[in-house]
Amino acid sequence: MNGIDVAGKTVLVTGGAQGIGRAIAERFAAYGARVAIADVNEEAGAALARTLAEAGREALFVRCDVSRLDEVRGLASEVRAKLGAADVLVNNAGIFPRADLMGTDEAFWERIMGINLKGAYLMCQAFVPGMIERGGGSIVNIGSTHARSGDPAAMAYAVSKGAVVTLTRNLAKGLAKHGIRVNCVQPGWVASEGETSRLRATGTDPDKLFAEASSRLPMGRIQTGEDIADGVLFMASGLSSQVTGQVLTVDGGLSLR
Ligand SMILES: NC(=O)c1ccc[n+]([C@@H]2O[C@H](COP(=O)([O-])OP(=O)(O)OC[C@H]3O[C@@H](n4cnc5c(N)ncnc54)[C@H](O)[C@@H]3O)[C@@H](O)[C@H]2O)c1
Repeated sequence: MNGIDVAGKTVLVTGGAQGIGRAIAERFAAYGARVAIADVNEEAGAALARTLAEAGREALFVRCDVSRLDEVRGLASEVRAKLGAADVLVNNAGIFPRADLMGTDEAFWERIMGINLKGAYLMCQAFVPGMIERGGGSIVNIGSTHARSGDPAAMAYAVSKGAVVTLTRNLAKGLAKHGIRVNCVQPGWVASEGETSRLRATGTDPDKLFAEASSRLPMGRIQTGEDIADGVLFMASGLSSQVTGQVLTVDGGLSLR
């Protein structure tokens, strides 16, 4: 398996209704994959599936909260029935509210871990059996550079994304014998819908902040969803057939010291 061999493959993207996940779903669809979008945002997810279908792509939207075992199991059954067992799973759904240690109460911690970490584990558990039956597959977990920078003002988020790297490496070792690769793509800073509305809610002008940040970045700009989608396409396709348990950082040089 070599090259960008995703045409005809079934690709599931969680959190695919908007932002980075949407760019990933669109990228795979453009390369001929059959794309399933799982999200809690029914309106945007269904609209994206319709747009892709109108453009002649095969696309399915399923409402699913990745932190809920029953919903993840329902998603796996529906995708299998309608598009066949998934060849590629992209665990992208995530939330990024910010708080330091003393500002993090138990409910806040559990909500972040439930979606960002438990969601990825539940999804892998639900979709790996189909990949084993198919004789292989590829899982790409979306992490964050916060995993390494350890920003104290985003304590639980940084911990959840650090654990996503550990999950990636642990699963990669265990699943290699089934031909399943597991990798992580770490975005730096992306002007997604979620990030833009988070900034607006704190009274920050996102455009001004993104422009200032861009001028400080080694590569001269913050990232787009499409930048991240290209990294995911690499990690999911035959272009990386001997890469597993690894982290690809797509951050325009943000993490360089
Ligand atoms: N935007 C950034 O700068 C940035 C940087 C590093 C990492 N990331 C990571 O990239 C991923 C996508 O972020 P984004 O910026 O596109 O965010 P976003 O808020 O624009 O999109 C996230 C999507 O996930 C969905 N979602 C949220 N909770 C869900 C749940 N429980 N089940 C299913 N879907 C759910 C939302 O409805 C939304 O469609 C996240 O994992 C995030 O942590 C983002």
